[in-house]
Amino acid sequence: MSLCAATTRKGEKFLDPESVVLHSSDFSFEEWQQHIIKNGLLLCKKDSEQKDETPPNQPLEETTGGISCANPWEQFYVQNQNHFFPIKNYILQAFPRRLLHSTQPPAVILDAGCGSGSGILPIMRHRPKDSTAVRLLRDHDTVSSLGIRLTTLTVDLSTCSRIPLDVSADIILLTFVLCALPSAQARAHAVQALRKACHPGSVVLFRDYAIYDNGHVRFAQAGAPEVEPAPYVTFAKRDHTTQHYFELSEVRQLFLHNGFAESVCPEEALGYHCNRVVNRKTRVSMSKVFLNGVLVAI
Ligand SMILES: C[S@@+](CC[C@H](N)C(=O)[O-])C[C@H]1O[C@@H](n2cnc3c(N)ncnc32)[C@H](O)[C@@H]1O
Repeated sequence: MSLCAATTRKGEKFLDPESVVLHSSDFSFEEWQQHIIKNGLLLCKKDSEQKDETPPNQPLEETTGGISCANPWEQFYVQNQNHFFPIKNYILQAFPRRLLHSTQPPAVILDAGCGSGSGILPIMRHRPKDSTAVRLLRDHDTVSSLGIRLTTLTVDLSTCSRIPLDVSADIILLTFVLCALPSAQARAHAVQALRKACHPGSVVLFRDYAIYDNGHVRFAQAGAPEVEPAPYVTFAKRDHTTQHYFELSEVRQLFLHNGFAESVCPEEALGYHCNRVVNRKTRVSMSKVFLNGVLVAI
């Protein structure tokens, strides 16, 4: 069996990264934005005075900027284990210059907010000899079979003053983590903490949910409770986690004000990735919108 074709969690497979196609321009962001605005798709039901009898998100008991359950992400993983976030075989194609084609092996990769390791595992399989990954499932067979050095730590990125690492990270993988923080202040704090964990020239490989993503439209239309004053971009979910959708200018500001610059490589520029996904069973099509890009510590 080849290394890359090995079966992993829940029948998922690691794929040869060269065989994976990253869909980033299935549709035009600008045209999609116009479609949403023209058709009022972000108008929530409470504004349009429609009643939704079965809202997908029940109101939180406390909505003072966030989470009313003591540790909603712990609850989330207790309930879903590692079945929720599939292995991100596309991750090497999302950041090919740093992860696929680089001849300079990174010494330390920090997967910030790694969850159950869906981003770092394919990277570790591709670079079995030259990376130390932090924050990931210790007991995955990728770790034990390849003998990779791994350190995990539990840190609240939104409040910690410093990530307690002995070394500074060369690469920080930051996928779908800032969207899970409940306020602009928490997101800025996390970026500041990450900046302290790296050195000039370190890179953050950023990918996260963007405005007008299918989920954003659904939350807004359902009148899901908001947790920030800015309209229709941060929502409280039924499981007490929160979900934010980013604008390009917001991500730029967040990193540029906190010690990072955008990569000068055009293929690494921060930008919207528009991916149309069709559900195999229902044939329902979803328009997914992400922000993707590389930020360099200065
Ligand atoms: C949507 S999941 C993404 C997981 C993984 N990065 C991925 O791409 O599949 C969001 C992750 O952010 C983590 N997270 C949420 N709030 C956090 C905080 N304040 N500090 C550190 N991690 C946090 C959660 O534990 C969860 O694993």
